[in-house]
Amino acid sequence: MDISSRIPGFYKMTVEERKEHISTLFQLDDVAKSQLNDMVNLPENIADKMIENVIGTFSLPLGLGLNFLIDGKDYVIPMAVEEPSIIASASYIAKIVREAGGFKTEATDRIMIGQIQVVGCPDFEKAKQAVLDQKEMLIKAANDAYPSLVARGGGAVDLDVRIINEDGSKYTKMLVVHIYVNTCDAMGANIINTMAESLAPVVEHLTEGKVYLRILSNFADQCLAKATCVIPPHLLETDSFTGEEVRDGVVLAYEFAASDPYRAVTHNKGIMNGIDPVVIATGNDWRAIEAGAHAYAARDGQYSSMTKWSVDEKGNLVGELELPMSLGIVGGASRVHPMAQVVYDILRVESAEELARIIVTVGLAQNLGAIKALATDGIQKGHMRLHSRSVAVAAGATGELVDVIAEKLVEAKEIRVGYAEQLLEEYKK
Ligand code: MEV
Repeated sequence: MDISSRIPGFYKMTVEERKEHISTLFQLDDVAKSQLNDMVNLPENIADKMIENVIGTFSLPLGLGLNFLIDGKDYVIPMAVEEPSIIASASYIAKIVREAGGFKTEATDRIMIGQIQVVGCPDFEKAKQAVLDQKEMLIKAANDAYPSLVARGGGAVDLDVRIINEDGSKYTKMLVVHIYVNTCDAMGANIINTMAESLAPVVEHLTEGKVYLRILSNFADQCLAKATCVIPPHLLETDSFTGEEVRDGVVLAYEFAASDPYRAVTHNKGIMNGIDPVVIATGNDWRAIEAGAHAYAARDGQYSSMTKWSVDEKGNLVGELELPMSLGIVGGASRVHPMAQVVYDILRVESAEELARIIVTVGLAQNLGAIKALATDGIQKGHMRLHSRSVAVAAGATGELVDVIAEKLVEAKEIRVGYAEQLLEEYKK
């Protein structure tokens, strides 16, 4: 079924109307529909099985990123996030990029890394060689520890050994075994940890050292996804700025982030504004994605911009974002959380690799939304307008009063809860 992610006027609909529209558009089945309509977010009995000491659940708004055209396919992208402007901004940029032909993406094989830490080897070089000599046996042993993964077409594919802290002056000299595993559509933490633990006794025997940690590395630099876009300047034009001015401002914003960690952190936070909400909505581990993304941004030794913006020979703005994407569409909360079913019905991804490509695309769009605004009008104008609604709610406004009070806050340029309370009092009189 071909679905367009362009839904003009979606933002003007009531929540009920939006649910109705989405249920029809995606032909949601009764389970998904009732999930969406009854707002049964996460029942306590399920929550109680997910973590410890449960006393309740904590909800986030779930919105839809629209207009995304990625590799010729339309995506409506569920995003769970509390910050106003994020979804509006990503959808706005996706609309511009769509007019330029859409985003293009690619991904590497999904190879995750498991680490085994060994200390106290009598001869480290000999220990390293002993492990390498038994590489095939160790890969087979890792696969024997997780046969179901092999049956799905994945499994351990390679192994490597490093010696770190060679001189041992600051930190203890260690041998680190890396096991490389194709985790298919799973994020793979449990798979990798099981494999690493199962190999530990053999590694101890081969190295004559002592194994301590056996754990997945979240620096998933062999599980990358990349999104790019090419935008002719006329699509960037605003009321007050020419397309070329916007384009050049975006490139300067990138150069600022590329060269200054103080700016890079905020620039990258803006990228994660787009990434985390999709990671959360799909039931994935956003701490793993965050950790991997920031480490990747510092892979050359200096923390820098995750995105790159440049101008091509035709004068187009070119954007790129490549990040590690250790996530899955099977296992973990992705299938336990009842809302995740609706999310996957809307997202319609068939593999973890496809999900990874969508997520980096949202990150790229989010970054352009932020730096385009920052390099032109500034973000406060749009941001405060949207923020005013949360302030109105915080002051106790409900129903239609939310927009009435929010509008008055914006007009008065005083977006404070105290002032909203005062307006509410006056309105009620
Ligand atoms: C705010 O949540 C994100 C921004 O600060 C990102 C940026 O500065 O690029 C607007």
